[in-house]
Amino acid sequence: MTPDQFREYGHAVVDWVADYWAGLAAGPDGARPPVQPPVSPGWVAGALPPTVPERGEPFEAVLADLDRIVVPATTHWQHPSYFGYFPANTSGPSVLGDLVCAGLGTQGMLWSTGPACTELETVTLDWLVDLLGLPARFRSDGPGGGVIQDSASSAALVATLVALHRASDGRWRESGVQDRFTVYASTQGHSSIEKAARIAGLGDRAVRLVDVDERLAMRPDALAAQIAGDRAGGATPALVVATVGTTSTTAVDPLAAIGALCREQQIWLHVDAAYAGAAATCPELRWTHAGVELADSYCFDPHKWLLTGFDCDAFWVADRSELVQALTVLPEYLRNAATATGAVIDYRDWQVPLGRRFRALKLWFVLRWYGVEGLRAHVRTGVALADRFAGWVRADDRFELVAPHPFSLICFRLRAPDGVNEALLHRLNATGSLFLTHTKVRDRFVLRLAIGAPATAAGHVAAAWRQIQQAATELLAG
Ligand SMILES: Cc1ncc(COP(=O)(O)O)c(C=O)c1O
Repeated sequence: MTPDQFREYGHAVVDWVADYWAGLAAGPDGARPPVQPPVSPGWVAGALPPTVPERGEPFEAVLADLDRIVVPATTHWQHPSYFGYFPANTSGPSVLGDLVCAGLGTQGMLWSTGPACTELETVTLDWLVDLLGLPARFRSDGPGGGVIQDSASSAALVATLVALHRASDGRWRESGVQDRFTVYASTQGHSSIEKAARIAGLGDRAVRLVDVDERLAMRPDALAAQIAGDRAGGATPALVVATVGTTSTTAVDPLAAIGALCREQQIWLHVDAAYAGAAATCPELRWTHAGVELADSYCFDPHKWLLTGFDCDAFWVADRSELVQALTVLPEYLRNAATATGAVIDYRDWQVPLGRRFRALKLWFVLRWYGVEGLRAHVRTGVALADRFAGWVRADDRFELVAPHPFSLICFRLRAPDGVNEALLHRLNATGSLFLTHTKVRDRFVLRLAIGAPATAAGHVAAAWRQIQQAATELLAG
């Protein structure tokens, strides 16, 4: 592809994306594609040729297949009536930042292989420390520092590895897992914590799922009892993962009490705020992070609720030297003058892979385009719409709210057997005009309505509630 061809087709692709977004956002509901595509497994594979084309094809043919094959089989996460799981935001500046990243094609494993890639990442993560009101020691001009991981799952894995390094006094690096180390999270903690324990060689049995209180937050007394019991049984507690905004219901673990216990017991505390960390951009929501100054590491996903496209997890440590000691390897072929000075960050030592792309560009574009005001406005819109929706649920006595809603997720159900609630969810999603997902809370089937797609406005949430009420009326009438 020549530069001129790239220019021509690049413009066509940007137009295509702009038209796609306009099609999701505008017009009456009926004109939009269904949020979930009505395709069966294998439909996409069946529409594709079995082998690579022998001769290169015109770009127009590729673009045409986006409309013919890809879009009809796409779940539209940017649809304004997408209320499933948690949002996976993207935005204009984020896409454009990714385009520049792809165009530069930088591989920033070392400072020397990408000085801008490294330093822009360090600075944007320092900016985020201030934007979220996180402890100053997470900043790179203190003992800590931030790095972009691909996901909160990778952040949990890296936290597990450095926690093992600390708990073994560094022996883990040479000898592997020699002691019976244990890891703690609440029963509501994310599954990535168990996956990280498995990958780290600890196994599922090393993970203790600690009991929660009536708000579904970890009970510090139960954590203390579990730790004491494990120590008495000869185990070495290595890591506690506390969550701000659990996946199921957005419960908030009490960081101050958990952090004090971790300090006393010398256990690494990782705070997983994958979705809810974005809320800390708003001072009025920072109460959810009280005690975060006791964390050894912290992560959140700008790719969930902060207008930055997947993948972008922001991960900080309070002491970068422990992290680097845990993960550093320096084969001859990576030695270079800048690394030898010890004065630069080589992000290869802060993550599992060696190579890395210039993800900071999209984050930087987003932070500069929206500014603090724009980012806060996005979060506040989600929280206000969720509050309004919760009010409607409360006012209809056929329904109940099943968990507190500090952010933009509402967990609710019909006061009816699980089967009726399940049928309600299927009936709603089958319409294609909106999409919700479910969870189980105290063994009961619960619907989740997660607000946060950038295109979602008051009218979409009101329309969703009208549809939910109507479907409930039909179902309850039998
Ligand atoms: C609390 C929490 N932690 C971790 C994750 C995993 O996120 P990722 O997809 O970035 O690995 C999620 C995903 O929803 C989550 O809600």
